Amino acid sequence: MSKFKVGFIGTGRVPEKPSVLGYAMAYRHAEAYKALPDDCEMVACADIVEENAQAFAARYGIAHTYTDYHQMLQNEELDIVSICTWPKLHAEMTIACCLAGVPAVHCEKPIALTWGEARKMVHIAAQYGTRVTFNHQRRFGFPLRQAREIVRSGAIGPLTHMEARVGDLYDGGTHWIDLLSMFNEETPAEWVIGQIDVRQEKLAFGAPLENQAICHVKYRNGVTALIMTGSEVQSFGPPFRLQGTRGVVEVGWGLNPGPMLRYRSDDMPAWEVVDTQGEHLHGPGYIERAIADVVNALKTGGESELSIRRAINGTEIIFACYESSRRRARIDLPLDIDDSPIVSMIASGDLRPAPPRA
Ligand SMILES: NC(=O)c1ccc[n+]([C@@H]2O[C@H](COP(=O)([O-])OP(=O)(O)OC[C@H]3O[C@@H](n4cnc5c(N)ncnc54)[C@H](O)[C@@H]3O)[C@@H](O)[C@H]2O)c1
Repeated sequence: MSKFKVGFIGTGRVPEKPSVLGYAMAYRHAEAYKALPDDCEMVACADIVEENAQAFAARYGIAHTYTDYHQMLQNEELDIVSICTWPKLHAEMTIACCLAGVPAVHCEKPIALTWGEARKMVHIAAQYGTRVTFNHQRRFGFPLRQAREIVRSGAIGPLTHMEARVGDLYDGGTHWIDLLSMFNEETPAEWVIGQIDVRQEKLAFGAPLENQAICHVKYRNGVTALIMTGSEVQSFGPPFRLQGTRGVVEVGWGLNPGPMLRYRSDDMPAWEVVDTQGEHLHGPGYIERAIADVVNALKTGGESELSIRRAINGTEIIFACYESSRRRARIDLPLDIDDSPIVSMIASGDLRPAPPRA
C-alpha cells in the first residue's frame, strides 16, 4: 500500500517557552507521523508566515511549502491534514479540507470558537464522508484509560457521578470534559446548568476563558457530573473522581499529595493504588498514540477514539454551560444556539473583564 500523504496547516514557530501564545503543536504532530514511517510521508505544509513554513519543512524534509493553505489543498493530493492553528480558524480550515476531498483531518482542540461552527463541522464532515478527529490525546493516557477499565470491570458498581477539576471549561476543559465522555461510554448529555465568572481577561490561543465556573451535567444514561474550574479547584480534590454505587476511582492527584490512580470499593479495607508506569495526565507519548490511532482508523476503516462524533458531546456541554450562565437557567439539550455565549457576552458588555494583570 502506498503511504498516506500528510499535510499541515499552521506550522507555528518553536517557542523558547511554550504558552497559550504559541506551542507550535504542528511539531508535536510531525514527530508522531515521523514515528510511523511505513504508513505516512509528510509532503506539504502551509503557514501564513513563510519562514515558519520553511523552518518546519526543513526540519521534517517536507518538499512543498505554502503561505495559502487553499493552494496547498488544490495542488497536493493529501490523505491526512493536521490543522494546528488557533481555534477561531479550525472550522473554516476543517471545512475547506472536507470540500477539497481530503479523507482525514486531524485538528487541534478545542473544536471551534462557536457552537454553530462546531455543528457545521459535524454536518459537513458527514456530508463529505471526511474522517474528522480532534487532538484530545489524553484519551490515550494510561492512568485515564485504566480508570475507564476499572469502571468497566464493575469494581465500583455502576457509574453514578463524576467530578472534574480543571483550570477552565474551554481550553484545558475540552480535554477534561471529553474524558468524562470517555469514562461515561460516550453518552451525550441531557441537560446542563452552570455559572461562570469572568472578572479578569484571560485568553488562551485567542479565545476568552472564564476565571471560575461550576457546571452540573446530567447525561442521558442518568449519570451526573460536576465540573469545577478556576485557580483554586485543586485544593478541593483530585482532577477526576468517579463515583459508582459501591466505590470510587480517583485520577490525577499526581506526585503531591497522592497517587495518580487509585480506587476503593465498599468491600475493600483500603485504597488500591494502581502503578501508572510513570504516566501522568499529560503524557508522555500521548500525541504519538493519538495520531497512530487516527492513521490506523484511516487504514482499517474503523472509528478513531478521537472522532468528531465523540468529541462533540463534550463541546456541547462547554457551550451549554456558557449558555446557562447567559440565560440564568438550566439548558436542555440539544443546544440550539450558534454563537459562543462567553464571546457574545464580552462583546455586548454583559461581561466586562478587567484588563489582565501585568
Ligand atoms: N492538544 C494539546 O494538548 C494542545 C496543547 C497546546 C495547544 N493546543 C492547541 O493547538 C492549537 C494551535 O496552537 P499552537 O500554540 O500550536 O499555535 P501556534 O501559534 O504555535 O501556531 C499557529 C500557527 O498558525 C499560523 N497561522 C495563522 N493563521 C493561519 C492561516 N490563515 N493559514 C495558515 N497558517 C496560519 C500562525 O502563523 C502560526 O505559525 C490551538 O488550538 C491550541 O488550543 C493543543
